[in-house]
Amino acid sequence: MSTVHQTAVASSRTGKLLVTGATGFLGSAIVSRLIETPRWDEVLLLVRARNSTEGVARVIETLKRFEVPEALLARVQPSQIVCGDFLLVDAFANDPRLGDVTEVVNCSAVTSFGRHPQIRKVNVEGTGAFAEALMAKAKLRRFIHVGTAMSCGLNAVNPVIESDAFPENAEHAVSYTESKLESERRLRRIPGLPLVVVRPSIIVGHSRLGCKPSSSIYWVFRMGFALERFLCDFDTQIDVVPVDYCADIILRMLDASVLHNTLYHISAGPERSSTFREIDRAVAAALGREPISHYHQVDYAFLRAMTDRFPELLGPCNKKVMLRAIQTYGAFATLGLVFRNDRFQTEGFPVPPCFTEYAGLCALSSMDRTIAEQMVTDFK
Ligand SMILES: NC(=O)c1ccc[n+]([C@@H]2O[C@H](COP(=O)([O-])OP(=O)(O)OC[C@H]3O[C@@H](n4cnc5c(N)ncnc54)[C@H](OP(=O)(O)O)[C@@H]3O)[C@@H](O)[C@H]2O)c1
Repeated sequence: MSTVHQTAVASSRTGKLLVTGATGFLGSAIVSRLIETPRWDEVLLLVRARNSTEGVARVIETLKRFEVPEALLARVQPSQIVCGDFLLVDAFANDPRLGDVTEVVNCSAVTSFGRHPQIRKVNVEGTGAFAEALMAKAKLRRFIHVGTAMSCGLNAVNPVIESDAFPENAEHAVSYTESKLESERRLRRIPGLPLVVVRPSIIVGHSRLGCKPSSSIYWVFRMGFALERFLCDFDTQIDVVPVDYCADIILRMLDASVLHNTLYHISAGPERSSTFREIDRAVAAALGREPISHYHQVDYAFLRAMTDRFPELLGPCNKKVMLRAIQTYGAFATLGLVFRNDRFQTEGFPVPPCFTEYAGLCALSSMDRTIAEQMVTDFK
């Protein structure tokens, strides 16, 4: 959307903030920050759970990964849990607490890169039904929807600008990214929804805790470095941001009285994206090994031909799963897409750290787990 569009939020808050996806990687990072603030008492969490007790337990479990102190964990109350599933919006749409909601951060989504049968049902239909249910009940001031920068598709011009004017028939590597673009379009059609879309690039690790909260996607770097081969060039840039930075930006957006746009990338951008070579150097320094001196860019067939060596190079693993991961994640890495984030400057938000500044922490916090163990989080 153009910069003339402004969304205003009254500075004095009277209503509830509803966070969805609170048991996921990004949602729990946001909750781990909110729980430290006076606003916590006004926070509601939409959680898939049979009852609020189970919901509390699920939220606490994820918050522990962020090293939230016990005293703060005790602040999670059953009264804050809205048990709900985007597949069954009608089942929670009449919850009276929704009438008090003024702000939403929507992190719920099926994030699988595979052929998950519920991708469209949750990410498009359920997301739309959820927003409509809230519009019918609540007086919303701001609805922050988390999209993905990769919804630009495979043929986007690099660096990718912050735009929703992507062609209808853009090619996508996985139906997840396609569904995420469609969900944005679905939400934009809801009259009066005070929508702000944030599109993170690739979220990897935490700038202070490394991979402790989640090993999502970090294992792809491990894999490439262990094989000393991957589908992309070693000097390809990759646009990565840490989860705590994403959470911080979303909370700032929530607090801003005025936002000048309705669509933002949360990304490292051309200036702060790192190359695989730079990331390897950072990881090597942390682990006390030599940086890779003979990296080879190879094609998929080459890697398929070396599957017998996978256990020796990657540790105990299912070779087929490894190959599928290489194919899927390699397709994104090869594109070398970086995502412009000019709009942050308009808002005065901080720039992200480079991945090289905390990749060593990710490596150190991954040492007790194999690549196969780490990748489970992305193949649920
Ligand atoms: N991680 C990244 O690199 C990245 C990059 C760009 C954009 N994003 C976007 O950021 C958002 C959060 O991603 P994430 O990495 O935190 O994903 P995640 O760890 O997979 O978490 C997804 C969250 O959505 C919830 N969810 C799944 N199906 C649901 C349903 N049917 N009804 C209600 N909630 C449901 C999950 O609940 P359960 O715990 O019950 O399964 C979980 O809390 C997503 O919109 C994703 O597209 C992520």
